[in-house]
Amino acid sequence: MSEKNTTSSTGDELVNLMVDTDRAGLLKEIALNLSDINLNDYQLCDLELLASGAFSPLDGFMVRSDYEAVLDRMQLQDGTLWPVPVCLDISKTKAMTLEAGQSVALRDPEGFLLAILHIADIWPVDRDKEALRVYGTTDLSHPGVGYVFNNIQDYYIGGKLEVISQPLHFDFKQLRMTPAEVRQLYKKLGWKRIVGFQTRNIIHRAQFELTLEAMRQAKANLLLLPITGMTKPGDFNYYTRMRCLREVVRYYPPETSVMTMLPLFMRLAGARGALLDVIIGKNFGCTHFVIGHNHADPGRINSDKPFYSNGETRKIIKDSSAETGVEIISFKEMVYLPFEDQYKPIDTVPEDIRTISFTGTDIRDRLKTGRNIPDWATFPKVAGELQKAYPPPGKQGFTIFLTGLSGSGKSTIAKVLYARVLEIGERPVTLLDGDIVRQNLSSELTFSKEHRDINVRRIGFVASEITKNRGIAICAPIAPYENTRREIRKAIEAHGGFIEVHVSTPIAECEKRDRKGMYAKARAGLIKGFTGVDDPYEIPESSELSIDTTDISPDEAAQEVLLFLGQKGFI
Ligand code: PPS
Repeated sequence: MSEKNTTSSTGDELVNLMVDTDRAGLLKEIALNLSDINLNDYQLCDLELLASGAFSPLDGFMVRSDYEAVLDRMQLQDGTLWPVPVCLDISKTKAMTLEAGQSVALRDPEGFLLAILHIADIWPVDRDKEALRVYGTTDLSHPGVGYVFNNIQDYYIGGKLEVISQPLHFDFKQLRMTPAEVRQLYKKLGWKRIVGFQTRNIIHRAQFELTLEAMRQAKANLLLLPITGMTKPGDFNYYTRMRCLREVVRYYPPETSVMTMLPLFMRLAGARGALLDVIIGKNFGCTHFVIGHNHADPGRINSDKPFYSNGETRKIIKDSSAETGVEIISFKEMVYLPFEDQYKPIDTVPEDIRTISFTGTDIRDRLKTGRNIPDWATFPKVAGELQKAYPPPGKQGFTIFLTGLSGSGKSTIAKVLYARVLEIGERPVTLLDGDIVRQNLSSELTFSKEHRDINVRRIGFVASEITKNRGIAICAPIAPYENTRREIRKAIEAHGGFIEVHVSTPIAECEKRDRKGMYAKARAGLIKGFTGVDDPYEIPESSELSIDTTDISPDEAAQEVLLFLGQKGFI
């Protein structure tokens, strides 16, 4: 980064994009005649941080010259340090109806008017360039890169914003402050030195000790910025995180910490991501900022390896300190010294001292299997909250999803399972058999691919609600398409167990049984598009069980499923 031609990215001035009541009234009238854009969750996060001034000095979604400069030089076009694009993406169809000089109304997904964007630029997205420059890779397993290639629509529009209303939130209202409000609070409390700690995780003992050490080093009070926007897939949900953090803040010395939620869509872009965090911290009035181990790093899938080099991230952040004006406090991993009953950064511990590295992943594993979490690893109240939110399999809800051809035996197995879990009697259970659903939920649907997908998604939605509420859903549709089944699995696994059972009875046997006479009708051409006859059934690629009922009774088939549930701890 060049030292010349750069100005401080975050002076003390905060951008305020909120308009006053008179202007809001006028804009609401104007909006009636404007084209609308309904923002998605990522875009809502960006809008909220732009509106509140947390992204100062940005005063709207980036225009093309800023975007290019950010990709090429980590600067806005005027030389101000800025690490990642903050752009508004739209579809090509929408882009074709708009031009620079027009304004558009930005709305939330329900259509509530939030802001007016005065368009200065419209340009096509260059995904490869953006991924390589911002994330340093085109590896799709990186969530940020996945976002660039799979979520961003084809065009960007940029321009200044006039914000009428912040996105609506109904939860944790006391923990939602703007940078201006937080700065005001420091004034009231008489705080001059503030160290920022941003986290997408729960603060366990290791992170708690790290923040205390940072406060000591910086001789500062603490600003906690828990991220409540898009974090890493698989993270604890933010309600749980916030409940845990509310417990943790009680352990800091009185009146030494402030916490405000940060609705940030995390880019997880290594040094660039960390630099954005520092700039946001600066806007929230931090004089110091903690850069932890593997900061802004998504980690590689199924491996301990980080995407980015810790050393390089720290160097880039430290080099930019002069420009941001924020002093960086960086830490190596904190480890537990069992004999001393103490946490220390790993690089300060002599080699012959025994240490334990107990990570968030270890805590998560313990939760999943219902094992105890030691007090030295996390505060007991935090462990209690986590256990409430993520109970062991025996207390979780789950879905048994039987898929297979018509006549394969799905419905009969489902009925036996239904009776057996009712007999066990520990959790409420709902049977969503193909026929029942077709009568009650999907009576208007046909058997076209599109309608089958709608039908199966509806089943998935109901099952995920049941699973979320700790019940048991037993589903038995044909569900012939792998992609749709995979989609449902993902939605349900976020809330509990998903056990896909492929009832793999071959078509010859199903046809021999032909209890409803439908195969005969299909062969005679009286029913068109019958699964297995003239419509495809895609064999499941990753089902938990595969059961061929040709030579076994429904009781035996159900027993296989029950044994599996027992083995996994669900019953
Ligand atoms: S799907 O593909 O998952 O939406 O199908 P599903 O809702 O499970 O409905 C399957 C039952 O509908 C009867 N039926 C047909 N099946 C397949 N293809 C066609 N064209 C068709 N038309 C009617 C069939 O009897 C299925 O019942 P089951 O219980 O599976 O034997």
